Order: sequence, then structure tokens, then C-alpha cells
Amino acid sequence: MESAEATRVSMDEITALAKRRGFIFQSSEIYGGINGFWDYGPLGAVLKRNVKNAWWRDTVELRDDVVAFDSSIVMHPLVWKASGHADVFHDVMVDCKVCKHRFRLDHLKNRAQCPDCGSKDSFTEPRNFNLMMKTFVGPMEDTSSVAYLRPETAQGIFVNFKNVYQTARKKPPFGIAQIGKSFRNEITPGNFTFRVREFEQAELEYFVPDDGRDMGVFREWVDRRKRWYSDYGISAERLRFYELTDAERPHYAKAGIDVEYLFPWGWGELESIAHRTTYDLDAHMNLSGKDLKFFDEASKSHYTPLLIESSAGMDRTALTFLIDAYERESGVDPNGKTVERTVLRFHPSIAPVQAAVFSLARNREDLVERARAIEKALRPNFRTQYDEGNIGQLYRRQDEIGTPYCVTIDHQTLDDATVTVRGRDSMLQERVQASQLETYLRHRLTGAPAE
Ligand code: GAP
Repeated sequence: MESAEATRVSMDEITALAKRRGFIFQSSEIYGGINGFWDYGPLGAVLKRNVKNAWWRDTVELRDDVVAFDSSIVMHPLVWKASGHADVFHDVMVDCKVCKHRFRLDHLKNRAQCPDCGSKDSFTEPRNFNLMMKTFVGPMEDTSSVAYLRPETAQGIFVNFKNVYQTARKKPPFGIAQIGKSFRNEITPGNFTFRVREFEQAELEYFVPDDGRDMGVFREWVDRRKRWYSDYGISAERLRFYELTDAERPHYAKAGIDVEYLFPWGWGELESIAHRTTYDLDAHMNLSGKDLKFFDEASKSHYTPLLIESSAGMDRTALTFLIDAYERESGVDPNGKTVERTVLRFHPSIAPVQAAVFSLARNREDLVERARAIEKALRPNFRTQYDEGNIGQLYRRQDEIGTPYCVTIDHQTLDDATVTVRGRDSMLQERVQASQLETYLRHRLTGAPAE
């Protein structure tokens, strides 16, 4: 299975397409780049936004028991003391004394030889390397002004637990969700946007009373997340839900599942779903001395709720959509010629462009004007793009960026007000009344009724 995936698509093909079509660029490219940071181009920015919107829709908007949150990236340093990040969030690493390159100890297959320069027995003693990014707050750069960029968004939710439940008038079971940037000074960033130093997380912290329902709630969230990946078209054969063993889980966690995707280099984690007991709220209550217990009005009692967490990386998920959608295949162009094409089979909600509108001729003002008017009319309801020129090239380009439908305005449009609609996946073309176009697309893109 792993070798089949490696031959289906290579990371070189994905990175080349991502750059060629404007999905993802190396950060600060004109200065030689900076390792572990990436920029999202015009299509990539929309792709990532669509992925986040799809998560937000399912996790927050479609539920009456989850509220939104948006905490600051820099928090009081004691937040990271309480959470354990200041003391135990590190990788063990060694440096090669000859080439000065740094390696994660657990990534080294052979500790006797440097994989980069080949020197023998050249490593320093293993040292702990904290993954949090340090900064200074205010004008003084001394120990009193040290702060950290958050390595996860979750802690902002925990420290605000009381503020949120009191103001939102929520009672466990209920959840708090946020999407935001996190930073980790990864020693070995790599695999494109998979392991990076600046990334976005979508985290749900779901609080439940300790009344025996917690494992049921954990399973419900696992099922919901499973359905989400499936609804948005991620191939079931390339996705697995790996149940962590007792030995693999942190000591405080009661259950844990890693959602993994089969990338061209092997299985990689997209999301972790965990039953974290009362660990996080307890840790903040202990260090801050403040009460974060829930006060139950009905029973007039205080208790610390249990916590179910779902934490997904949005950059990894966007990369997964890109890889999973990718296909190379032979197709037949409008002239009946067989052509090789690259196609991204994005789900319509994930596709950066949903409908491209073309004028068949660049130099015919009447066609251009009509095509632009049709694109403008569709724009409030769909993600559209206008283009013109050679139809074969236009189709190739839209296939490569995963646009589900292309609409072509040609000479016949001026006579009978019909347009040609071509489907990305079937490559079939249909003549559709321009007046019916919106209903036609809505039906196919969203499943809305045909009439
Ligand atoms: N609050 C729990 C938490 O942060 P995690 O397993 O450390 O758990 C959750 O991170 C998700 O965040 C991962 O499954 C991954 O998708 C994403 N993530 C973590 N480190 C990352 C990195 N260096 N680059 C890209 N995504 C990362």
C-alpha cells in the first residue's frame, strides 16, 4: 500500500504544481528562503480558508453546544509553566562537531556516523532543545520580558474556561473551538508544509461532566471527525484512525486516537483526538491559585469537567486535500484528441475556484463582454474566475487547479443564449441555457434541487 501511494504521486510533483499554479511558495524566496516557513499563494490561501471553513462549519456552526474563541498568540509565560511546555516540550538533539548540523536523536538511524558529512563519532552529547519560540515583550530585552509564541492554541481556551462558560451561559457538556497560528521551533522541518515552524491549528476543547458519559462523547467526536474527512472526499484507503496504546499515551490521558494520512513518504499525523481528563484545568488551577471549576447551579456544587480534545493541523490538512485530489490521467480533449492531464479532484466546497467562465475568442468584444457579464452574475454565489483564449489550454489549467466546472461562451451563445458547461471529472460537455446556469451549478456544486 505504501509503495502504491509513492508511485501514485510524488512530493516533487506536488511541490512543482503548488508553485506553478500559485498554491504554496517558499517564504522569503528572493532571499534564499527560511527553513520551516511557507507562503500561501492566491489559490493556496483560498484552499486553506476553505479547509478551515469546512472544519468550522461542522465543529461550531452546525452545533448548539460549541462556542467560538480567538485567544492571543503571546500569553503570560506562566501559562507554559502550568501546561508543561516550559519544562517538557522538547526534542533530544545532537550536533555534528564537524559539519555543525543538528539532528533529532530519534531521527538518527546510526549514531556512529553523521548522515550529512559522513564523519565518524562526531556527535555532541544529547541535549534537550525546547521547541517554543521565544520573544521579548516591550522595549527591554531581559529575562523579565521573555515570552513565547504559543505552541498550541488550546491553552488560551483552558485559561479562559470560566470567562467563557459564564458569559456564553454554557454547561458541560459543551465545547470551545478556535483556529489560529501556532509556532514550534522544529529541529527538522520537512516534507513541504507537513512539519513547519509556523502553522495553523483547529482545536476543539469539549468539556464533559464526570458522570460516566465521557468515553461515549470521545467516540462520538472520533466518528464525527471520521465523517468529516469522508464527506469532503478524502480517500478512506489513505486515512486511518490509530488508537494509541496505554504506553503511547501521556500518563494523564484516558484515550487517544491519531488521525493519519498515507503521504507519499508514508503515514503522517493530521490530527490527534484525546481524552485529557481534568489534567489541563487542574494544572492551571494549581499554578494560578484561581478556581476554574464549573459551578452547577442546579446541584449547587463545584466540579472540574473532563476534557475531550480534537486538534487538527490546517496546513497538513490542506496539503492532504492537495495530495489526495491529485491525479495524472489520459483524457479526450474537445477535438477528440487524447491528452495527458493533471487533475485535482477537489470536493466542490474545497476547490479554490468552483466555476471558470471563458470567452472562446480573445479578440471578439461581444463574446468577451457576454462572458464577463455571466461571470459577474455568478460571482456572488460561487467562487468564479474569468479567462479567455485557447480552450484546450484553458481546460488544462482549470483541471490542474481543480475547478469542477468550466463555462464557455461562444458564437452560438449570441444566437440562442446557451453556454457550454464542461465537467472536470467526466470531461463531458453540455449545452445549458444561460438563464439556467446558476441553478445548474448550484445543483451540481451543492446538491441543491435541480429546479
Ligand atoms: N493541543 C494538542 C496538540 O497541539 P499535537 O498533536 O501536538 O497536539 C496537533 O498537534 C496537530 O497540530 C497535529 O496533529 C498536526 O496536524 C499539527 N502540528 C503539530 N506540529 C506541527 C508542525 N510542526 N507543522 C505542522 N503541523 C503541526
